[in-house]
Formats: sequence, structure tokens, C-alpha cells
Amino acid sequence: MKAQAIQAFEARFGTTPEYIIRSPGRVNLIGEHTDYNDGFVLPMAIDRAIWLAIQKREDQNVVLHSLVFPDDLAFSLQDLQYNKGWGKYVSGVAWALQQEGYPTFGWEGVLLSDIPIGAGLSSSAALEMAAAKAFSIIGDWTFDRLKMAKIGQRTENEWVGANTGIMDQTIAVSGQAGHALLIDCRDLSTQQVRLPDHVSVVILDSSTRHSHTDSGYNVRREECETAARFFGASHLRDVTLKDFVLRSADLGDAPRRRARHVITENERVLLAVSALSEGNVIEMGKLMNESHASMRDDFEITIEEIDLLADLAQSETGCLGARLTGGGFGGCVVALVENQSVEQFTKNVQFTYAQRTGLEAKGYVCQPANGVEVIPFNL
Ligand code: GLA
Repeated sequence: MKAQAIQAFEARFGTTPEYIIRSPGRVNLIGEHTDYNDGFVLPMAIDRAIWLAIQKREDQNVVLHSLVFPDDLAFSLQDLQYNKGWGKYVSGVAWALQQEGYPTFGWEGVLLSDIPIGAGLSSSAALEMAAAKAFSIIGDWTFDRLKMAKIGQRTENEWVGANTGIMDQTIAVSGQAGHALLIDCRDLSTQQVRLPDHVSVVILDSSTRHSHTDSGYNVRREECETAARFFGASHLRDVTLKDFVLRSADLGDAPRRRARHVITENERVLLAVSALSEGNVIEMGKLMNESHASMRDDFEITIEEIDLLADLAQSETGCLGARLTGGGFGGCVVALVENQSVEQFTKNVQFTYAQRTGLEAKGYVCQPANGVEVIPFNL
């Protein structure tokens, strides 16, 4: 990808780029819809990323030629306008940076990506953090990881109109090769969690798509807030399972089940971290399966195709566990699979999924990768 980025830049601008930025997608291993409830998540950055090859401009414009999206992007930093399509993640970051008082200067370049778009692998957070990194190196100011993650979240919430949490941007800036990352979404403290070498993370794309601005995402968030208010808590993070059992009878059916998912999911994340730290992949897999059932029955963010894909994955030899990953209503399933079974596992699931749905489930075996970084030319 790096060579391609340099080549594409040279073809466009007739010179070598000043900087190359790589910003990864992510897969969440466990902890879904817990981030905006101030809870715990365990994502990992993946070895699929957005790449920018860029150089400084002398004016206040950002110009980006995309090799993945049909249209290019050009806007003035002096007159930021909401634009539809992928460009809003770049202009939105510029807007959020300006709101927070960061100086922004013009730059131009090319964009490449091998993150499947709209699949729930956070191509948008990857783009936001790539853009933030670009503004920081061009503006010569320090890229503070957590501040930039918050800039990305502000972009989503106030510019894009998706009321998403902080998980995707945090893992995009703080991922570390070989590790998943436990994030406490209340204080943003993190812990790197090593993934055992004998298992692989396989992502299966259901080929069904979602959007967090028009899906049930925002509705789920409101239901969680209603439930938290019922328990007199600022966030569901503060409601224990015991509180829930004792007091939830009078809570409406939907918020009650949403709350049960979030409360039990937070526990599963912490148990998953213990399991992985002890190398207990059987327990990790079991927790992933339980997480899927909770998203299907209580949080109701799975769809028929995703349930089928998860079922098919879970019943294959060598699969330790599988679950929906990301915001839901389509997208991908993540599975933990013994290394020696990966090939047969993927083939079998793809075959039956295609037979039953007529859809292709692309499979990606992913390595845990670093967060956003400037890539030196000579590597
Ligand atoms: C999306 C959001 C995240 C998180 C997940 C669900 O990816 O961007 O903040 O809420 O959904 O866990």
C-alpha cells in the first residue's frame, strides 16, 4: 500500500509526497454499545488501513484525490461547509479542530484504502484520525492521541450527525501490533492485551450495509439513557447486575433489555481480558458467543444474515467463538479461530452462507496492528 500511495501521489502531483500516513480500521472483539454508556470495550486495530500521501499547500485549501471513492474532495479551511459523502469526515475534523482552537493549514494529496467501507470496520474513524494526523504534521503541532480521538468523536456527533461513542477513534490512535486494547470509556484509560499466537481473528463480511445516522443506532443510545435515568445513574456503567435484577421490573420492556445487554456486556469485557491474559481462548470464545446472543435477543441490533453468519461460524470446527462486531444492523461478524482451521473454516462458512442467502461473505484474516502513524519513506 505504501508503494501504491507514493506512486499515486507522483502520478497526480509529479513529485514525491512529503508525508505518508497510515490509519487503521478496527474490529471490536467484545464490548458492543458499551462505549457511550461509559463502559468497557476490547477492540483491536487491524492491518487494513486508510493511507494518505500528502504535501503542504501555500493556501488554505484541502485537496484530496481518492482512489477508492468516485469523487475527489476540495474545500477551503476559511469557509467550511458540510459536504455529503466521504469528504465530510475530513472537513468535519477541520471544523472540530478549529472549534478547539487548533491552527489548520492547507494540504493536498491522495487517499487509498483497503478497509471495506460501511462494513462496521470503522473506515470513517480511520479517515478522521488520518485527517487529524495530516493537520497536525502540516500545522506542526503535537498530535495528542486522546484529544484527537475526542476531535473525531465531535466530528461524528456534531458534524456528521451520528451520536457515536469514543471507541473507534481511541483504537485508531492507540492500537499496538500484536494486541487488543481494553478501553475504559469513562476515563479513557487503556490496557494493551496480548492476543495468543495460536489463534486468528477472522472477519466475515455479511455484505449487508448500515449507516449510523439512519439506523437504529441513535435510538439504542436513547433507550440506554432512558434506562440509566430510571436507575438514577448518569450512565449504565454505574448500574450493577444486582441493582438491575432487584429494580428493573417497572422499566419498560425495550429499555430493560437494552440495559441488561449493556450491564452484562461490560462484565463480559472484563472477563474476556482475564481470559486472554491467561491464554484461555476457550473462555474468550464462549464470551463472544454470549455477547452475540445478547446483541440478538436483548439489544436487537443483529439482522437475519448476521445471525446466520454467526451461527454458521460458531458451529465450525476450530472456531472458538463468533459475534457481530461494530454498531450492528448489518456489517461483519468477528470469529476467533484456531490457526490450523482458518482456511477450512472460512471456506465452509462462505459456502453455506452463499447457498442460504445468495450473498458473498468476504473473509479477512486480520493481524492486530498499530494505530495511526506517519510512515517513514525508507522502511
Ligand atoms: C459504532 C460506534 C462506536 C460504538 C459501536 C458499537 O462503531 O462508532 O462508538 O458505539 O458502534 O459498539
